[in-house]
Amino acid sequence: MAKSIWITGDTHGDMTRFSSEIFSEQKEMDKSDVVIICGDFGGVWNWKGETKEERYWMDWLNRKPFTTCFVDGNHECFPRLSALAEEERYGAPCGIVRDSVLWLKRGYVYTINEKKIFTFGGASSHDISDGILDGNDPNWRQKAKRLEKQGRHLFRTEGINWWKEEIEQDPSIYARGLASLAAVENSVDMIVTHCAATSTQAVLGMMQKDRMTDYLQTIHDTVSFQYWFFGHYHMNRTALPHEYCLYEQIVRAA
Ligand SMILES: [Fe+2]
Repeated sequence: MAKSIWITGDTHGDMTRFSSEIFSEQKEMDKSDVVIICGDFGGVWNWKGETKEERYWMDWLNRKPFTTCFVDGNHECFPRLSALAEEERYGAPCGIVRDSVLWLKRGYVYTINEKKIFTFGGASSHDISDGILDGNDPNWRQKAKRLEKQGRHLFRTEGINWWKEEIEQDPSIYARGLASLAAVENSVDMIVTHCAATSTQAVLGMMQKDRMTDYLQTIHDTVSFQYWFFGHYHMNRTALPHEYCLYEQIVRAA
């Protein structure tokens, strides 16, 4: 095949969709073929460090006959992602999980197989309506148990399975995104994000806008793109012409 680009939605640490039985196109692939995951990768997840299971799956992906790239979602271990070694790949800095398992960071335009691809991961979690516990609180485990007993399961614990960096906190990163786009005259082949622009997610029935969806709205209104792929909403659906929400589906984009 060589130099193809494939996109899929949230993997949440479960890489089985990339088995050769399910994703059989890989039989024709080499490392120049790229698969991009639209966030909630979940392969760098455990707050204590790489588990045996994570090591197994990251090594497994690294041995695959394609390169795996991902933008970050809202469910990633952000301190571990930020601690990854950084290398210039596809014309911009990537976090290196393995030699061919790469984190595409927020606010860069990567040139992958001659396609200009703007990436900006992150999103607000929708599964935290029972609150956020403080992982530095010595009693967080008891508090978590109490919530569970009350049948309140929609909570997360900061520093354990939730980080405020799920939404970009640093204004300079937002600015970097706009500058990267301006440098390519606000015209790219693809945009890959975790959440969608405010108006696009409204089409999917999601009305909860935030700083990040509003930022993406600005990009939506000012940048020309052939395709915009995003994950987060756990559905496979064309939201608008040229804008696709992906979950388990793996689609060929180039
Ligand atoms: Fe997800």
